Amino acid sequence: MSRKVTKAIFPVAGLGTRFLPATKSVPKEIMTLVDRPLIQYAIDEARAAGIEEFIFVTSRGKGALEDYFDHSHELESSLKKSGKIDLLELLRSTNMDSGAIAYVRQHKALGLGHAVWCARRLVHDEAVAVILTDDVIMGEPPCLQQMIEAYQETGGTMVATMEVPMEKTKSYGVLDVAEDMGAIVRARGMVEKPKENPPSNLAVIGRYILAPSVMENLNKLKQGAGGEIQLTDAIADEIEEGRDVFGLRFRGQRFDCGSKAGFLQATVAFGLAREELKDEFGEYLADVMSIRKAAE
Ligand code: UTP
Repeated sequence: MSRKVTKAIFPVAGLGTRFLPATKSVPKEIMTLVDRPLIQYAIDEARAAGIEEFIFVTSRGKGALEDYFDHSHELESSLKKSGKIDLLELLRSTNMDSGAIAYVRQHKALGLGHAVWCARRLVHDEAVAVILTDDVIMGEPPCLQQMIEAYQETGGTMVATMEVPMEKTKSYGVLDVAEDMGAIVRARGMVEKPKENPPSNLAVIGRYILAPSVMENLNKLKQGAGGEIQLTDAIADEIEEGRDVFGLRFRGQRFDCGSKAGFLQATVAFGLAREELKDEFGEYLADVMSIRKAAE
């Protein structure tokens, strides 16, 4: 089988309850880090990795997300008229080719595995990437590109992984490592949110390259941790059935933008990384820190 990966699934049908009340009317994926919605970071990462087809698994109330990808002709012609060429180029860089995006609906938030399964008719006998937009990763080359390069060597199924403190493993899918080859590990098992005895401190984060057989495993619609249909379980089934699953220790910093603290940390990191903001924003942060220290 060819090891090209040209399709990516973006499951965006979750309820986003940790950001209520904002998510009552604003999809979490439209929330903004500096001046770009989370979804734009995910799309940019996918494009950089050579993805050509973008499959969004959406749900009720995500209309703003679909609108975001429409070309904004009025805005473009107004920017052109007023000679704001930089802004015009910025806007155009977010335009997607006609037909490059497909939307499928998940009618009920039954879990990440179920959301991925909802895209099954758009994925044929091919490997597919999955990107969780809440996990924003600052890295060069971008995380998905690192994964596709590693996948070209290994084949199989690949997940992005990073070390977390042992006490935090209960919030993640965790790898049981059969063979540690440095950047790449071969898994002998995978457990979703282990309550006790985590098999390692290697947490799975929101980037995957799935072999076609993972979609078949999802057909079983097996309920797992928290009563949800878990993608982790369908990947663990791969190992049970004798197929390869690898983890890639990617290079880069991951922010959990599905949580408030993670979102704030990402705002600071991406703000400081911007040439036009770093001095003013950096000084402000230094002031805040010194006032805090003085108060201690
Ligand atoms: P989360 O576990 O962060 O859930 O989902 P959530 O609903 O988005 O947020 P909270 O926990 O209520 O605050 C991880 C990713 O999986 C998608 C979400 O949209 C998010 O990108 N997801 C999750 C689905 O698409 N469908 C589901 O049924 C569950």
